[in-house]
Amino acid sequence: MKTLAVNGGTPIYNGSFPKWPQWGAKEEANLMKVAESNSWGTLGRFVLSFTKRFAEFVGVPHAIAVNSGTQALELILHGASIGRGDEVIVSPYTFSATVSAIAHVGAMPVFADVDERTGNIDAESVARHITAKTKAVMAIHVCGYPCDMDALKAVTSEHGLMLIEDCAHAHGSSWRNNMCGSIGDAAGFSFQNSKVLPAGEGGIITTGNEDLFERCWHFHHAGRASGGKTLMGTNGRMAEWEAAVLDAQLDKLPEQCAHRQKSIRAIMQGMADLPGIILPPEDPRVTALSGYLFQFQWKGRNASRNEFVNALQAEGIPCSTGYVPLNHMGMMQDPAFEKAIGRKFEQNDALAAAEELSKTAVWFTNNVLLADAEIIDKVVQAVRKVATQL
Ligand SMILES: Cc1ncc(COP(=O)(O)O)c(C=O)c1O
Repeated sequence: MKTLAVNGGTPIYNGSFPKWPQWGAKEEANLMKVAESNSWGTLGRFVLSFTKRFAEFVGVPHAIAVNSGTQALELILHGASIGRGDEVIVSPYTFSATVSAIAHVGAMPVFADVDERTGNIDAESVARHITAKTKAVMAIHVCGYPCDMDALKAVTSEHGLMLIEDCAHAHGSSWRNNMCGSIGDAAGFSFQNSKVLPAGEGGIITTGNEDLFERCWHFHHAGRASGGKTLMGTNGRMAEWEAAVLDAQLDKLPEQCAHRQKSIRAIMQGMADLPGIILPPEDPRVTALSGYLFQFQWKGRNASRNEFVNALQAEGIPCSTGYVPLNHMGMMQDPAFEKAIGRKFEQNDALAAAEELSKTAVWFTNNVLLADAEIIDKVVQAVRKVATQL
């Protein structure tokens, strides 16, 4: 048996992985077009055309390009008149922005537990957390693996709640052949640097709800409304530079998603028999994956998840641990949080699956999944070496 690299053995792989983000001639040409247009902002040509293209890609009638994924979520909540005195159910297994968007509009985030194998919000736990103050459920498709939208739609429609998708990880993922971002009442996407559709920063709202679209549109455009009226608004408009890059990046997205999905299949097949490794479910309702991240769990008896991650990194494979549940983060006790909402965050019920996943999750990033098949085979070999020897 070969000695683990972490113990002084030879690493399985000492080469590189694809860089991210990736760009080429179209990004360059589009950026020059913006420079020469002397029209760098305020609903320019690229912003409007990319918005239309992205709405078509997701399969919704309306989209609004904005400054960030965080702002997309905030504007949706704002547009739905969710604020002080209201509660929004969300999972703690996500990036801080999902929850701070709720707090920023003055609503209280209420945490429901997750499905341990996916990290996605669990509809039964959502149902247990509904109160008379609940207005919406925010569902994050963690790592681009779609939430159980059947179960979430059933519970939100039974209780008359809005279903908001946080699609920061899910550009190109689909559930029963419906794109993530087209299934709930509205969705927010991020175009931040690491995302599968990157522009450095940026975000977009997608929705099929005409009224919500109208309100979000006015809000993002400094409150300008039809007939010369003004509403309370903000400047959420995307800059032309970002849309020019996104226009080129969107051309590449379907092929990149297909490549990452192929890598995920190979990794799943190569790891399926390993003790200690728990893979995400193979659910036939999940019809496409963005491959933003591939998440699995390490539950080996003789080594912790952090030891597993260290050993795998030593074999030359970039990987990381998953999220720390947000209910443990300092942000929940930040005085600004209490000020925004008007009361302290006091929820302390057990969220057992989120806790367990935070101690066992391992992530491979987008650029690892974009590697060629021979390198993906090295990833599998490294996991097999580490899992069988730790
Ligand atoms: C799950 C999730 N939601 C929201 C966001 C916020 O997106 P942005 O960074 O564009 O504000 C992110 C960004 O990393 C995220 O991962």
